Formats: sequence, C-alpha cells, structure tokens
Amino acid sequence: MKKETNSLSTVSVNYWSDFAKELVKLATLTLDGKILDVGTGGGACLVAVAENLGENCQLFGIDKNGNKISQARNKFKDIAIENVKFQIMDATNLKFENNSFDNIFCGFIGFSDVFDFESNRFIDKNAKMKEIFRVLKPGGEAAFSTWAYQQDIETARGLFQKYLIYKNIKKLDEIENISISYSKESVEGFKLIMEDAGFNKIRIFSKDFQIIYKSIEEWWEIMENSAWIMRYTLNHDPNKLNDLKKNILPQGVETFKKEGEYIFQKSVIFAFGSK
Ligand SMILES: C[S@@+](CC[C@H](N)C(=O)[O-])C[C@H]1O[C@@H](n2cnc3c(N)ncnc32)[C@H](O)[C@@H]1O
Repeated sequence: MKKETNSLSTVSVNYWSDFAKELVKLATLTLDGKILDVGTGGGACLVAVAENLGENCQLFGIDKNGNKISQARNKFKDIAIENVKFQIMDATNLKFENNSFDNIFCGFIGFSDVFDFESNRFIDKNAKMKEIFRVLKPGGEAAFSTWAYQQDIETARGLFQKYLIYKNIKKLDEIENISISYSKESVEGFKLIMEDAGFNKIRIFSKDFQIIYKSIEEWWEIMENSAWIMRYTLNHDPNKLNDLKKNILPQGVETFKKEGEYIFQKSVIFAFGSK
C-alpha cells in the first residue's frame, strides 16, 4: 500500500471530529429536521450537524455506553441548541417509533459482529441496520462511516506481533489470531448489509486520508489507546506497556517519517441510503 501522497486530505489526531464533519458534509440534511445519531460516542456527528443546521433542528444521540453519553452531553454545554437529547440505548433495539427521523447518522459503530467481511456472509442477525431503517422516515437518509484501513494501527499491530515473539509471550502460530483492534469493513460487504435492511438509492465509496503525527511519542500515545489489543494482551500493566514502548518505538515507524513528522494512511467508507 502506498505510504502517502500529497494529494490526500489530511486529518488531525482528533480525527473523529474530522471524519464526522466529512460525513455531515456529504449527507443531504433536512432543514429543521429530526436527527438521530446512533453510537454517538463523544457526539462528534451531532456537533457537526449543529454547526450546519443551527438552532431549529431536533437532535437525538444514543449510545450503549453511559460514559460516552456523559461526554456527549458535556460537549453540548457550550453549544446554543436546546433541542438535543442523549440516551443510553442499544442500536439493536431502538426505543423510537417507526418512521421517526429525517436524517440518521451512524459513525464507526462496527458491523463485523454480524457480517464476515472476508467471506461476505452474515454471521448474525442484521439487527442494528434493520433498526436504523425502521426508525428512518420514508424519504429520509441514513449516513454511515466505517473503517476500510488504518495503517497506523496495523503498523502498531505488526510491531506488537514481533515483540510478542521476541519476548516469548506468544508462539508464532498464536500471533496471527490477535485482533486487529478495529472493525475492518469493505464497500461490497457494507452495501450488502444496507440492501438486506431495505435501503435504496445507496451511495457508497471509500476515501483515503493521511494522518500526521508530530512526533513518534504522539503516535504512540494514540496507538496505546486505539490499538487496544496491546493493552489487553499485556493486562493493562504499565511496566509491560513501557517495555513494549521502549522495544517498539525504534523499529518500523521510521519508514513513515517525512520532514520530522510521521504520516500514515487511514481509509474510510462513507455510505448513504434512503427509505
Ligand atoms: C468508534 S466510536 C464512534 C463515535 C462517533 N459515532 C463518531 O463517529 O465519532 C463508536 C461508538 O459506538 C458505540 N456503539 C457500538 N455499538 C453500539 C450499539 N450496538 N448500540 C449503541 N452504541 C454502540 C460505542 O459505544 C462507541 O461510543
């Protein structure tokens, strides 16, 4: 895979907010509409919607994780929008009436728990996507983003695999199975999930971005959090993570260095469907 090209759009280390802005920019927003964000996390998509639509829209954000709901509520403290509600809720069982929303956003909640993107087959019920379709109004639009590729995280994983062997923590045949730390999906598979739920007028494409880390330490800081398999395998032990950092940093990452910064590719699938 090509390391970087200057023509790629650049995202910052606050990439959730950058990708949310991109998703909202690409969506067809209904003025004064009723808008739901499924798996809202820190509320990035709703912040971007609020910036575009102003005060007259009604915003709802749901997430299964209560901490995320608190973060999202905090983010909206300084935003002059009264009609925003956050609720803990699972996307597989949305507590809304049929045909409730003009626009639905759903950023990076991951569908690899229901669909195998290598064999393009369902492995469980398509409940999340069907629920999103159910609560969308006829004529409304749902907008999704999901990962196609994260070079920074896959690089960390590759170096971590070498470390596990070097330290005799795992055997060669065990390292292949360690998680990639994110839900890696495909345009073809995602389209099948949307079609199965009933969406029509599907627009779907993948877009490459470059992410720039100012230093190797900045890269590591983000990887320690997002390449979670490292933390998980080392039982969250700070000493082990420090040892990993010492061993991992001098290797491999230097090939991504350009003019003192570290540049990696991130590819995102954007998908839009109507009811
Ligand atoms: C990677 S974060 C992305 C957050 C936000 N959508 C964004 O684009 O920045 C994914 C979020 O989806 C939530 N999530 C995952 N599966 C969910 C489900 N079944 N129901 C509700 N929330 C879910 C997670 O708790 C997490 O906050």
